[in-house]
Amino acid sequence: MIRIGVVQFEPVFGETEKNLARVESLLAGRNLDLVVLPELFCSGYLFSSRDEVEALAQSIPDSPVIERMKEWSNELNGTIVAGIPERAADGFYNSAVIIDAREKLIDVYRKIHLFAEEKRWFRPGNLGFRVWSIRGLTIGIMVCFDWIFPEACRTLMLKGAQVIAHPANLVLPYCQRALPIRSLENRVFIACANRVGDDIRSPERRLHFTGHSMITGPDASIIGELDDASENMLEVEIDPAAARNFWMTSFNHLIIDRRPEAYHPL
Ligand code: ACM
Repeated sequence: MIRIGVVQFEPVFGETEKNLARVESLLAGRNLDLVVLPELFCSGYLFSSRDEVEALAQSIPDSPVIERMKEWSNELNGTIVAGIPERAADGFYNSAVIIDAREKLIDVYRKIHLFAEEKRWFRPGNLGFRVWSIRGLTIGIMVCFDWIFPEACRTLMLKGAQVIAHPANLVLPYCQRALPIRSLENRVFIACANRVGDDIRSPERRLHFTGHSMITGPDASIIGELDDASENMLEVEIDPAAARNFWMTSFNHLIIDRRPEAYHPL
């Protein structure tokens, strides 16, 4: 059995140190195999200029946020997946880092489907959808709006994911209804860490985030779910062997029965 957790909290825009301290207090004393934090957890979401992105972006693997995540991974004795603004040689990406201190793993997924104004600040991800096999568990990553493209989860499923880590800053009301079905159709667990609260940059420039972080199972179940406003951590125990059972009936296997030749426009 594997213990996984998702952290739901309200990042304060631009206050990296405060945000790290808040996450630290939510993680204190826990022992988990996998923890997922929200998208852009250390910076906040609603940027107003490229200068702000520049000031808050983190280099991988050398930056204070990555150092703290390594410490957390050590303390948890587990893997952490978290959304950060990434500074790369060719620009900025809305990324999720995966860190496992014991396994000496630091790697990155760069969000492929950028949402709304993110297109002003970030380059679209250029590393594809990726999976990592760590401590006997195969983890894939998608970030927030990736969920609306079924191809994202399907690609991760075809690459072997048992759990999809999903850092999110959701503003539309649909994702939480879709995730149980994404889990079912791909026979994976999904751990969605969404933020709560608002980014208010001016009276006109504000966004509200919808919470309801959740962990869904390959039978379309919601194994655990938080509310729409509280800062909290959701922990569940899962059996990863329950993922990737593709036999829906004795005649129907979700990979063998695929008919790519009939999906021509894809
Ligand atoms: C989103 O992709 N942050 C909605």
